[in-house]
Amino acid sequence: MMKGIILAGGRGTRLYPMTKAVSKQLLPIYDKPLIYYPLSVLMLAGIREVLIISTPEDMPAFKKLLADGSQIGIQISYAVQTQPRGLADAFIIGEDFIGQDSVCLILGDNIFYGQNLTATLRSAMAQLSGATIFGYPVKDARAFGVVEFDSEYRVRSIEEKPSKPKSNYAVPGLYFYDNRVVEIAKSLQPSERGEIEITDVNNAYLRSGSLNVRLLGRGIAWLDTGTPEGMLKAAEFVEAVQSTQGFYMSCIEEIAYRRGFISADELSTLGKALESTDYGRYLITIAKESYS
Ligand code: G1P
Repeated sequence: MMKGIILAGGRGTRLYPMTKAVSKQLLPIYDKPLIYYPLSVLMLAGIREVLIISTPEDMPAFKKLLADGSQIGIQISYAVQTQPRGLADAFIIGEDFIGQDSVCLILGDNIFYGQNLTATLRSAMAQLSGATIFGYPVKDARAFGVVEFDSEYRVRSIEEKPSKPKSNYAVPGLYFYDNRVVEIAKSLQPSERGEIEITDVNNAYLRSGSLNVRLLGRGIAWLDTGTPEGMLKAAEFVEAVQSTQGFYMSCIEEIAYRRGFISADELSTLGKALESTDYGRYLITIAKESYS
């Protein structure tokens, strides 16, 4: 079985003063809190047991927003990260939650959207051992983990925030690992920035011959929310998709319903609680479709 972790820790200092009093992952991207977007990715993958890791200060707000997940037919539990010790720390904090299972980690500020996303997620889940990560073409890869290929397009290494990237394929914040990841995370030494790096986890899998890197095409959008401009552009993207198609993007209640996690009646009840908003009316409309 595969479990899911959303890492929503960190102080968000790069977005101060926006994030001085509120966690970045609770800020809106257009009409919903940022964390809805990564949560929707886990749900599209069919993952129903989710751990949210956040700071002690922000934890109550996440609980208020998402509770135990039963309203959307999943199980959400919570754990605190007291210090930003790095992304790989998620597997140490989450050790008991992971148990004997495999795990998908998604960063709380990563937004993915696109036609083949569900199929891509499903095929990553079907990989029973090793690690599956992704490569996504970006104009400037310096702010990310970057895939280095040899002349035959085999992966040679992953480099964390290289000043001279060896390719334009960045590694997005979505990672699938078998159970070995817990031991690998525990064995890591902190990097120069004092964090245990996810890139070191990936290189450990690469050395053992069990790292899969799948290249994502332009049909999938990976949106950056690391800067105010990135957040505004992501919001504009969501608005454009929703107002053109009439379908909501990353609507966790709709996904729960379409995946069979909740019934039409339950969806309708969730909608009625938000009836004064477009969001709530949308849920009610979707629930009604099933009766017609
Ligand atoms: C982290 C990872 C990096 C990855 C990025 C994706 O960067 O360290 O490898 O490409 O997330 O969002 P950070 O958020 O620590 O800058």
